[in-house]
Parts: sequence; C-alpha cells; structure tokens
Amino acid sequence: METVLGDPAQFILDHTVLTQTPLVPEISLYVASEMLPIWQMTEDEMRTVGLPPPFWAFAWAGGQALARYILDNPELVAGKRVLDFGAGSGLAGIAAALAGAAQVSAAEIDPIAIIAMDLNARANTVTLIALEGDIVGAAGADWDVVLAADVCYEGPASKRIVAWLDDLARTGVTVLMGDPGRTYFPKSGHEKLISYAVKTTTELEDTDLRNTSVWRVTG
Ligand SMILES: C[S@@+](CC[C@H](N)C(=O)[O-])C[C@H]1O[C@@H](n2cnc3c(N)ncnc32)[C@H](O)[C@@H]1O
Repeated sequence: METVLGDPAQFILDHTVLTQTPLVPEISLYVASEMLPIWQMTEDEMRTVGLPPPFWAFAWAGGQALARYILDNPELVAGKRVLDFGAGSGLAGIAAALAGAAQVSAAEIDPIAIIAMDLNARANTVTLIALEGDIVGAAGADWDVVLAADVCYEGPASKRIVAWLDDLARTGVTVLMGDPGRTYFPKSGHEKLISYAVKTTTELEDTDLRNTSVWRVTG
C-alpha cells in the first residue's frame, strides 16, 4: 500500500522503536520514543489525506492494564475466540494470543494501525486476524471475548461503542474494558476487576502515572 507516508510499514519502522511495554514487559511494541513529532506530522500531513492521529504509536494506559490482566488471568481467554476492538498497536490482542486464545481478531478503522498491529504481532511471534473498518453494531456470534481498551475518548463515538458493547455482554459475550477514567467512560453497566498505576507520558496525558482499571461489562 502506498500512501502520503510512502510505504506505511517502512514509515512505522522509521518513526518508532521496538520497546518493552512498561506494565507488560513480556510484550514489545513499535512505539514512538517521542510522541510529539509524530503527532505533529499527523496534524500537518496525514490529516490532509484523511488519516487519523497515530494512536497505534503509543501503548495507551487502558491497553496496558487490560494486557496485564489478561496475561495474569489467562483462563479468561485460553482456547477462546477473542476480538480486540480499537486495537491500535494490537497490545490487548497480543496479550490474548500469548495467553492461549484459540484465535484473535483485531479491529481498527485506521489502515496504518492495521499494518502497525501486524508488525507488533510478528515481533511477539503471534498472529492477529485484521478486521479493517467500523464493526460497531456487528453481532457477537464470532467472539467469546471482546476486549476494548481506551476506546472512550470522544463523546458521540463512545456512546455508540458502549451501547454496542453492552448489547454484546447481554447476549453472553465476555466484554472486558481497560480505561484510565476518561470523561466518556460510562458511569454504570460494568464492574471493576482490578486497578493499576500505569506509566504513560506527559506528552499525551496530563500525568505520567495513570490510575487505570479493568472492567467487565455487565450491560
Ligand atoms: C486510544 S486508542 C487505543 C488503542 C489500544 N486499544 C490501546 O489501548 O493501546 C483507540 C483506538 O480505537 C480505534 N477506533 C476508534 N473507533 C473505532 C471503531 N469504530 N472501530 C475500530 N477501531 C476504532 C482508533 O483508531 C484508535 O486506534
């Protein structure tokens, strides 16, 4: 695929460093060592061709917490069909694959994230099945477990996503979310499983340590 970025895989490799994830050192990801330059480039160049900011270039607090919890509780996903929704780097999905999931799909609306998550999966010697596009509203028959980490960062989109995750939970899918208390995270419909202090970066967050929880959606 050729884009304004040239070869996207090469773009990712040129602008990131394979780095151990702070809360999940078992998993290394191609992440930006400095976020601001790549984020600025997005504003200037990517947006002109409709590409979203590079969420894939960062291990978000919600993803780190959810990945940690899955690796410490592998029975949640072992032998199961798992979806990592809004996968970004693919962190939560990679954790599920390492924990013994039968298969892991990873859904993203950002075509560059699809390539980043594939590079990350290979770096951790696992496979993610890429689902490109907006699958909000899809029936849950293909998944036993749905993971959604740090997906509540925009008002209207969060409402839609949460309503869908609630529906999935009510039909018997295990839905797990990781969230550091973002404004649009729902106030009800879930139970807290665990909290962690997650190291992030003040380049993107208002503090370098975020109290982040893993939740099971009850619907
Ligand atoms: C803040 S990032 C979190 C990435 C990753 N889950 C993590 O915790 O590191 C949110 C991601 O959700 C993706 N996203 C947002 N809406 C989506 C949708 N409707 N379908 C699939 N992905 C979506 C964005 O492209 C972005 O990569």
